[in-house]
Amino acid sequence: MKKTLLGILIASSLMVSGQKKIDVSAELEKIQFQYKYLLKKHSDISKIPHSLHTDGTYRSLPSDWWCSGFFGASLWYLYEYSQQPYWKAAAHKWTMAVEREQYNTTTHDLGFMVYYPFGHGYRLTGDTTYRRILLQGAKSLLTRFDARRNVIKSWDEFKGYSFPVIIDNMMNLDYLTWAARESKNNSFYSAAAAHADQTIKHHFREDFSSYHVVCYAPDGSVEAKKTHQGAADESAWARGQAWALYGFTMMYRETRDKRYLQQAVKIADFLINHPALPADKIPYWDYNAPAIPAEERDVSAAAIMASALLELKEYVPANASLMYHNWAEEILVSLCSPVYRNKGTEQGGFLLKHSVGHKPGRIEVDVPLIYADYYFIEALLRYQKSGKL
Ligand code: GLY
Repeated sequence: MKKTLLGILIASSLMVSGQKKIDVSAELEKIQFQYKYLLKKHSDISKIPHSLHTDGTYRSLPSDWWCSGFFGASLWYLYEYSQQPYWKAAAHKWTMAVEREQYNTTTHDLGFMVYYPFGHGYRLTGDTTYRRILLQGAKSLLTRFDARRNVIKSWDEFKGYSFPVIIDNMMNLDYLTWAARESKNNSFYSAAAAHADQTIKHHFREDFSSYHVVCYAPDGSVEAKKTHQGAADESAWARGQAWALYGFTMMYRETRDKRYLQQAVKIADFLINHPALPADKIPYWDYNAPAIPAEERDVSAAAIMASALLELKEYVPANASLMYHNWAEEILVSLCSPVYRNKGTEQGGFLLKHSVGHKPGRIEVDVPLIYADYYFIEALLRYQKSGKL
């Protein structure tokens, strides 16, 4: 998709002349205060900040939890922004907290757990220790790729099925494309591309909403399409849709394969036009949750979507680019409002309220979540850099 010169001029002038609606520098000052507080309350690296219990105490978890890398990764973003040694030292400490996960072959989540913290660390420092750990982690992730089914196994078992793949798994693919470039071993790249291709084939409905879990038989056929964290097998679980949008946008960045861009655009269309999306653009935890509007919002899904749209806008023609920019901006305006954004040490230093981890399992309902914070920081940084097409 080529941007026309006229389109670029119109959209650029609109963006450049238009005032940004968010003062990103002020937000990042507040974030640094809040995360200094969170750091002060967490010294033991076996208890990684994750969320709060219902009584307001910290719910901090060990490195084998799928979210263990987000804290270190967020600290790297704060270092990148501030260039202060304080953040570099904190980022290093909480990155090394997940070092052992480089050998973990029991999960597909190594992108979040290992690539996010070590990947940012390597990008910002060039430290070859991080690179070595990253390459080992990528090897561990690749053990979960099955050449007959052409997908990476997410979990080892789900409701009696032995090869479940969840839409979230798209988020690990840039770990593999990175490893392919670094190691010059193309098997990482081909696994990532094969996984994305199978996901297009099997995870999406006609309206470009996606199933959460697809279970594969040994011959590669699909045995079942289910949900784990959504309201129903046929519903659109909000964070899953956001993972899909982010994942295909990122796979276009990594491969320049137009099919991935088209998929991301279709997913964005589905989300942007969804009748159940509230006016403030923060989705309910499932677009088909049964009691809407008396259902919890999921701020994590909104933050992931904002960050994804701010990348997707770079790859589309000017009009769509402007629309995605404005949409992401509106999400960020909502997230920065007191309805969703914590002040000072409120909620223990976490940045955002009102996320949902696993509503059907009654776990983490209407709480702050470390990954909502991560994508919020990422989206703010992307927003700050944006404005030009
Ligand atoms: N990857 C798990 C989740 O999004 O909750």
